[in-house]
Amino acid sequence: MSGYPSRSEAERLLETSVPMNPGPWGDHSRAVAHAAEKIASACGMDPDKAYILGLLHDIGRRYGTHHITHISDGCRFMLELGYPDVAKICITHSYNVHDIDNDVAPEDKDSPERIYAEKMLKSYDFDDYDRLIQLCDSIGMAEGLAPIEVRMWDVKDRYGRYPDEKWQKNLELKAYFEEKCGGRDLYEVIGEVPFGVRQASMSDLPEMLRIYDKARDFMVSAGNERQWGAAYHDGIAWPPKSVLEQDIAAGKSFVCQYGSRVVGTFYLTEGPDPTYAVIDGAWISDAPYSVVHRIATDGSVRGIGAYCVQWALKRTGHLRIDTHGDNKPMQRLMEKLGFTYCGIIHVEEDDDPRMAYEKVNGCEITN
Ligand SMILES: [Fe+2]
Repeated sequence: MSGYPSRSEAERLLETSVPMNPGPWGDHSRAVAHAAEKIASACGMDPDKAYILGLLHDIGRRYGTHHITHISDGCRFMLELGYPDVAKICITHSYNVHDIDNDVAPEDKDSPERIYAEKMLKSYDFDDYDRLIQLCDSIGMAEGLAPIEVRMWDVKDRYGRYPDEKWQKNLELKAYFEEKCGGRDLYEVIGEVPFGVRQASMSDLPEMLRIYDKARDFMVSAGNERQWGAAYHDGIAWPPKSVLEQDIAAGKSFVCQYGSRVVGTFYLTEGPDPTYAVIDGAWISDAPYSVVHRIATDGSVRGIGAYCVQWALKRTGHLRIDTHGDNKPMQRLMEKLGFTYCGIIHVEEDDDPRMAYEKVNGCEITN
């Protein structure tokens, strides 16, 4: 007898477990299973086994949402049913570094659940199935896949921490499986390249500068050389590196990834924005708002700008954005996304008037 159930039994287990503790974990488990199956078949592992382990790695969540109990309960449940391979995954999926305390939500040392999980973790050596589910767990969200750095940042944003060693280990796992798949990009292997947005760090600066260069070239070719052109900003192309460094340091700079690549960037801050205090026209709401500035894409794939603006709108619920009169693509994007044109404002960096837009309330990310 194998140490894991059949595919249909695994499906049945998940289907009957999710209603016991309704939540996004069922869809998350399916996303993990799907990715694991694709990667396994591309690198000579058993795709069925990978799928089944992915589908059941979080099965302990049927008993509740508490972090450590989802691990220990899942392990016990699978051992009871005679599926030791899944029991192992229930424990190992959360510890890509073989250490019970290297976790986003470390548990109280005296907790019986932690003692049990630690004992089990110590008894296991990791194999490629453990590594595969660790990796897939770090790209699978309820909505589908996410770029790995985006998923880790999202966890950090919600829990307030993400151990550095765990972060680095996930990147190593990605590189490990890409190597095993003949040097192919992970998302290409899975056959699905997700968009995602995360906060930028200083290490993103070279990519951000590349994107702004690309964006300025495009703007010139589209008849908009004034908005960010060096000739119109005291000889320095806008936005200058020093501004980007300040944005990143302030935690207000974001990058958009398309799979493994950084393809867009923008600045997002809460208002009030001094340049929006005076408008030749009228804003639609005086309620607290956020502002997107310096949005740029490298144009390598369709929909980057729309994804960024919708992400910012979903996060904040109320956005104001301005753009140059010569920036027709941005004006079209604002209309397409349902923003209202509110009038003319003036910015600090030059004397050209800017067209101001606003939208209140979130909208669904559609692409
Ligand atoms: Fe998971």
